Formats: sequence, structure tokens, C-alpha cells
Amino acid sequence: MGPGAWWRDAAIYQVYPRSFRDSNGDGEGDLQGVIAGLPYLADLGIDAIWLSPFYKSPNKDGGYDVSDPRDVDPRFGTLADAKELIEKAHSYGIKFIADIVPNHFSSDHIWFKEALAAPKGSASRSRFHFYDGRGENGEIPPNNWISIFRGPAWTRTVDGQWYLHLFDSSQPDLNWSNPDVAADFEKTLRFWLDLGVDGFRIDVAHGAVKENLLIDHRDPERLIDALRLDFLEISQQERAGLLSDVPFFDREGVHEIYRKWRLILDEYPGDRMTVAEAFVYPSSRAARYVRPGELHQVFNFNFMMLGWDAAAMRASIEGTLAELVDVKAPATWVLNNHDTPRVVTRIGSPRKARALAMLIHALPGGVYIYQGEELGLPSAALPDSARQDPAFIRSGGTDKGRDECRVPIPWRSTLPNYGFGTGTPWLPQPTDWAQYSMDTEAKDPESSWALYKKSLSLRHSHPALGGEGVLTWIDAPEGIMYFTREPGLEVVVNTSDLDISLPTMGTSILLESAKGNSLQDGVLTLATNTTIWLQL
Ligand code: GLC
Repeated sequence: MGPGAWWRDAAIYQVYPRSFRDSNGDGEGDLQGVIAGLPYLADLGIDAIWLSPFYKSPNKDGGYDVSDPRDVDPRFGTLADAKELIEKAHSYGIKFIADIVPNHFSSDHIWFKEALAAPKGSASRSRFHFYDGRGENGEIPPNNWISIFRGPAWTRTVDGQWYLHLFDSSQPDLNWSNPDVAADFEKTLRFWLDLGVDGFRIDVAHGAVKENLLIDHRDPERLIDALRLDFLEISQQERAGLLSDVPFFDREGVHEIYRKWRLILDEYPGDRMTVAEAFVYPSSRAARYVRPGELHQVFNFNFMMLGWDAAAMRASIEGTLAELVDVKAPATWVLNNHDTPRVVTRIGSPRKARALAMLIHALPGGVYIYQGEELGLPSAALPDSARQDPAFIRSGGTDKGRDECRVPIPWRSTLPNYGFGTGTPWLPQPTDWAQYSMDTEAKDPESSWALYKKSLSLRHSHPALGGEGVLTWIDAPEGIMYFTREPGLEVVVNTSDLDISLPTMGTSILLESAKGNSLQDGVLTLATNTTIWLQL
């Protein structure tokens, strides 16, 4: 690992607490479940956990609909549990990152209830985006925007006004030009910082500030396709075109918010950090979130959206590193999260997913691992009757939503519910998941878990891994990515369908994503869809 602050090259493990581990048998994971899982996470070798929201919430959008950001939802436990979790994580040397959701509150939040009860034009309404509709009787929404979960982005209230919600109608967007909003979020940041969190993942970080609120978009349906991290049937080129100008995302004003947040974090001891969920295009726009005095990291979603294509991945890696050097921020590498298909499913093969993980673990900067990724879990097939995502509900089922990557994870092959908990899991687990459970994989030196454990351990012990040191590309045939990291590491990725042979300076194999490779007399033979790390 590198010499800088811990987060610059950390391996950060995303816990989706509802699906991690259930301690009380209600079928949903909870904070005591996360505490029980800490020894496992410490053994895996991660540096930090980021928890998706566990705050008070009616849970219409998996907790991303927050009704009290400074309290814990009883489904997850209590504030005392949160405190205990943060402290215990620290006792294992694991940092703790909380999630913060500045784009919207839940419609159950007291502010929204007050706003509904208050008259048009009132101070309470101005904390959200309330507008009169168009048409003779105001029966047409103020503009034609569509919710990211489909259906109109506006809902009409009983007195005829409409309010904006880029997500579910239970998630009214906040109006950041009202100073109450900034003041309340400052309180929330300090509340969790005081409790000892090491950082925040900022939900929809690019969304807080809206402009052009009364202007129609030329193609709102297609825009939503392009904005969804789980919508893959759209070309890179079309996505790029649509993302280059989203009226409600990536407005200049968001940067002002984060410059203020940065000052708050900097008041606290230790290296507190932030990571932005900002899916913007091109990646140079993402780099603007991590300029000096702003946020620390931004998820590299543009890389995540690429297929198993050496030329495209190399171009993206080069571009990302060049843009971030300018702003002095480290890169992040992420393969999936709770909003996307699992990486094995997305790129269509466990073998490629292993090779891809070893590629990103060898790049400069930090990596994110989504719970179950280390087990090589695929997305789970679900019957429509089990689906709960508002995207599924609001689209009338045409959008299958994100439940398939949120199925509770398997711990023990022989226990009911694979040891997730004693209650029936909130989403049904597939019948063939014993093979992926942690106890099965821990016994198998060739398992995905074993590969992640070795790779994370080398990231701590090998001086070339992690950090932000030099990456030097070496010319290689089509389909091959070949680079060195200093000091002493060579990385070769074979994305082609054939085994290949290459001259190499490597002297020994440190780690390989699949068997069937050899290193002899300066020649490396590398099997198809394999990544190898060689000691120079
Ligand atoms: C983010 C979250 C996603 C949530 C949405 C609305 O994209 O990752 O899960 O539905 O924001 O808060």
C-alpha cells in the first residue's frame, strides 16, 4: 500500500445491511449482523466498510428514502448498535463509511409532512420543489421529466401543486437553495463524525442542485435509460451523448455544497473522507468532484460500464489516471454495487470476473468490493412476485429493477437460508448457492474468495500494489493488456479467446486468476481470459 492517507488506496467493502446478515430472525439483515460478520471481513483483508443507509426510513427504496438521517431504523437496530459497530470495526482496524443522501428525503420526513400541510408559497414548501402545473387547471406536470424509477418525476398534491421527485414519489427532492437544507445536512455530517465515522459515501452527489426546472427535455425516456447503471442495452456512444447534458444532474452549484462539506470534515481529526456517487460523462466531469478542496473520491462508473474489451479498458484507465493526476486525487475501481447486475452476470463469466478483479486490484488507487462479489456470486433469478424495487413497481414490470443483486448472501452451506439468519429472507435465495457460501469457499484454495483474500493480502504486502505509483504500459497484441507497476510487478491480462505467449521480464508467478499458465526461459504462456501478476 502507498504512504498516503488510508483511503487513497483502500479496499472498501460495501455492506448492503438489509442483505448481509440477520441477527434477530426477521428475515432482514441488521447492524448486529454486521458486527457478527466483522471477523470474516477482517480475515478477507479489506480496509474499510461502507454501509448503505440504516437510518429511519419507511423503506420504500431500500432505506435510500430517509425519514430521520440522525437515527437508526428499528429494523436495523438502535443508535447504540451503530456506535458499537463503528467501535468494533475500528478494533479490527476497519474504517467505517456511512451513506448520506442529500438529493431527497422520504415523504415521511417531518419536513415533507409540514410542507404538505402548509399553503402554497410557504417557507415549509420551499424546502422542496413545489410548482403549479401547466394546462388550464394545472393538471399537466410542470415539465416532462421522468423519474429514474420510471413514471413522471412529479406528483400532484391535494391542493393542486406538484412536487419533484427524481426517484420514487416517496422521495421528494430537496431544494438546496433553501438554507435550512444545508444547515440540516451540516448537522447530520457532524452527528456521524462525532460518533466516529471515517467518511461518507454521497448518494446521487451530482443531483442536489436543479436548474431548468420548468423546461422540457427532448427525450426524457431515453435519458432515463442512459442514467440507469443497470440498463446495459444502450451503446456507449448514445449513453455518452445523453449524459453529456442532463438538466438535473452535474450542475455547477453542487460543487459549492461539497466545498463546504470538505471544510467540515477537515475540522475533524484523522483522515475523514468522502466518495461521490456521480455518474457523469465524460470522466473528466467526474474528476471535477475531487478537485482540491472538494471531495476525496468519486466512483469510476465509466470504467464499470465497459465490457470485457482490452482496448476500451486500457483507454479508460489511461484517461482516468490522466484526469485525476491533474486534480491530485486517487482513482477508484468498482465492478458492481447494489444498483447494478453483479459483475459475474454483467460480463457473463466467473472466469472473466476473476481476471477483471485482478486487473483492477493491480491499478493505482482504491478498490470497492460489493458484498458477495468476493464469493463470485451471480445475480439471482427472481420471480416477479418477489420483486420489491420501486423501479419494478413504477415501471409496471418492464424494468426488472435491482433486487437480483440484493439477495441475502450465503454464509454456511448446510444451515437454513445459508446461515444468513433464521427467518425467511426478504428476497428468496437460489437453491444452488451452497457452492458460493463462505464456508465452502474458505475450504477451497481455488475459490473466488481465496483469490480475493490473496489479492487483498498482496495489496498490503507488495510495495508496487495500491498506492498511486507509476503504471507503465508495454506494447502487446490485440486483446492483451500488459503493464508494470513499480517496484517489481508485471501484470498481464489476456481478454482474448486464445492462450497466448509473450516474452516477459517476470521471474515468478505471484498470483493468477486461473490455472494453465507457465513461465519459462523468459516466455509467459497465459491462458484465455486470465490475469497474472509476475514478480520482476
Ligand atoms: C442511488 C442509490 C440507489 C437509490 C438512489 C436514490 O443511486 O445507490 O440505490 O435508489 O440513489 O436514492
